[in-house]
Amino acid sequence: MSDSTCPNPCNVLLIGGGGREHALAWKLRQSSRLGKLWLSDTTNAGLAALGEPCPVKIDGRDAFRLTRWCETADIHLVVIGPEGPLAQGLTDVLQTKTRRVFGPSKAAAQIEADKAFAKQLMRQAAIPTAEARTFSDLESAMHYIENREDPCVVKAAGLAAGKGVIVCNTREEAIGAVNRMFVQREFGDAAGKVIIEEKLSGQEVSILALVDGRTISLLDTCQDHKQRDEGDTGPNTGGMGAYCPTPLVDAAMMNTIQRQIIVPTVDALRREGIEYRGVLYAGLMLTPAGPKVLEFNCRFGDPECQPLMARLQGDLIEILWATSTGKLADVDFDFDAQVAVCVVMCSGGYPGSYPKGKPITGIDDAESMDGVTVFHAGTTMANTNELVTNGGRVLGVTALADDLPTARDRANAACEQIHFDGAFYRKDIGGRVLVATSPPKHV
Ligand code: AMP
Ligand code: GLY
Repeated sequence: MSDSTCPNPCNVLLIGGGGREHALAWKLRQSSRLGKLWLSDTTNAGLAALGEPCPVKIDGRDAFRLTRWCETADIHLVVIGPEGPLAQGLTDVLQTKTRRVFGPSKAAAQIEADKAFAKQLMRQAAIPTAEARTFSDLESAMHYIENREDPCVVKAAGLAAGKGVIVCNTREEAIGAVNRMFVQREFGDAAGKVIIEEKLSGQEVSILALVDGRTISLLDTCQDHKQRDEGDTGPNTGGMGAYCPTPLVDAAMMNTIQRQIIVPTVDALRREGIEYRGVLYAGLMLTPAGPKVLEFNCRFGDPECQPLMARLQGDLIEILWATSTGKLADVDFDFDAQVAVCVVMCSGGYPGSYPKGKPITGIDDAESMDGVTVFHAGTTMANTNELVTNGGRVLGVTALADDLPTARDRANAACEQIHFDGAFYRKDIGGRVLVATSPPKHV
């Protein structure tokens, strides 16, 4: 077998245990090439039902046993969902000529794992992003804040489980944020370096592209609603829901994003001697001065992955294999013409502390509805074989329909079928667009 031929059957190890990974596993199972599907994490009950538990612990810093196990289990493709193992270099360790890993190398994952690296790369390649400075000590960060007028955003440079970004409207808030990072060390080593950047305004969109080193294939556009409450208010979360595609990005805008952001980023990495293979996720703000980068991620977004997988038409194993072998140009895939809306049902208290172990009912009723798929995130099976909550983001209730309002109504109606103590969700996923694009009222 040459290193670019996709095996059939193909044994897959999927790493990660959230809603994103349930959606990936669901799509992998639709591939006629799938041999055995192994899972690194089978806590999530929806995911666990789709594969076998991998008996070896995943640790990017000590992957010796995992490598041996991949050999004995004849794993052909490893799919890495979360950023942690990518940043630890698991791809570099597990990849061989015949065993491919979907997900970038440790060097390439720096684009997410080190925001100072990403900023430097963008600055060198003139990629539009918020104006920013990087600091390694409290004193110079404080000096900078005291001498600037505008609202700013304070970010831990390293990985902080999506929590290391503090949007500040006043100088006092910025001082507090820098203290939390450098003095209270709330984010640990992730805030060894701190970025202070200009606060941008506009709509946020998620642009994901498959990159095989050279060929770039843009996926359909998504919008993730990060704030907890309706109308995009309240505290930031991991994501309360996402939909795809978003009419906020038309073909001309997509062209600009590709030309000004995605292509120059892949090229700039290559100039650093880094070949990017995997998904490149650009979190963008659509500002009055054009799209600007808020952050890069080196993986599929969660929950963006759920509506993307719900619409993807193609063989996911072939697509991921082609991406990791530099053959993306040879593989065909498309997206369903329907719109997908994923509404995240959460545990009461999230994103603060929340209880676990609450029984969940009604998923079958929700899934019996036309176009509805329920992806699990924070769920598990209790001893009694009862499905219970096990996280802040519990389920990603995903609906397909011909247009955005219908898909949203369908996803909300499906959520109404599902019950657990303290459950809450936003009923306005896609709402900002529904408002933004509705015709002016005539009075
Ligand atoms: P990040 O993890 O860098 O995407 O930041 C998390 C969230 O903080 C983003 O989704 C934005 O809502 C917000 N954010 C980050 N950077 C900025 C910025 N420069 N201006 C305004 N909001 C920002
Ligand atoms: N949905 C945001 C993220 O995955 O980072």
